[in-house]
Amino acid sequence: MKNIVLVGFMATGKSTIGKKLSKKLNMNFIDTDLLIEEKENMNISNIFKEKGESYFRDLETSILRNILDKEGIILSTGGGIIEKEYNINLLKKIGTVIWLKANKDTIIRNLKTSNIQRPLLKTENIAEKINNLLNNRIDKYKKASDIIIKVDDKNIQEVVFNILLNL
Ligand code: S3P
Repeated sequence: MKNIVLVGFMATGKSTIGKKLSKKLNMNFIDTDLLIEEKENMNISNIFKEKGESYFRDLETSILRNILDKEGIILSTGGGIIEKEYNINLLKKIGTVIWLKANKDTIIRNLKTSNIQRPLLKTENIAEKINNLLNNRIDKYKKASDIIIKVDDKNIQEVVFNILLNL
């Protein structure tokens, strides 16, 4: 089976769903954020703080390049990986790209139960920031993806089931 790449906004369940899929399909799970943290020996928040967002975006590209020749993987990506046009091409080369599509309310609800620090959302008006980022990214997710799964009305199991149905 082709590799599977999960893209989508922050807090749409990419890592949780990716891990479940990897067990069901007996494939290896890889997460770009985790690889970046390991490589830099620093968490994402500190990378943003000390080295800046564009440094982080370059790391995302170099991680994708390293993954290009891997087989049998489920790849979960950071929500902004589609910001660079070049990354979209790399994602498509890596495998079947699945967009976990969520609306703002779902994202805000999921963020409340998430303990991951997200530097881009360290702001007074989170709803407005999410709106802006979503507006800016929606066409890029669309361009990157082969399959779109709407997650708003689904629990984790249902999302996994839907992905398997669509593969
Ligand atoms: C980001 C999403 C994060 C992480 C970083 C930037 C983004 O990953 O890569 O904080 O730009 O949307 P998650 O999508 O796993 O939260």
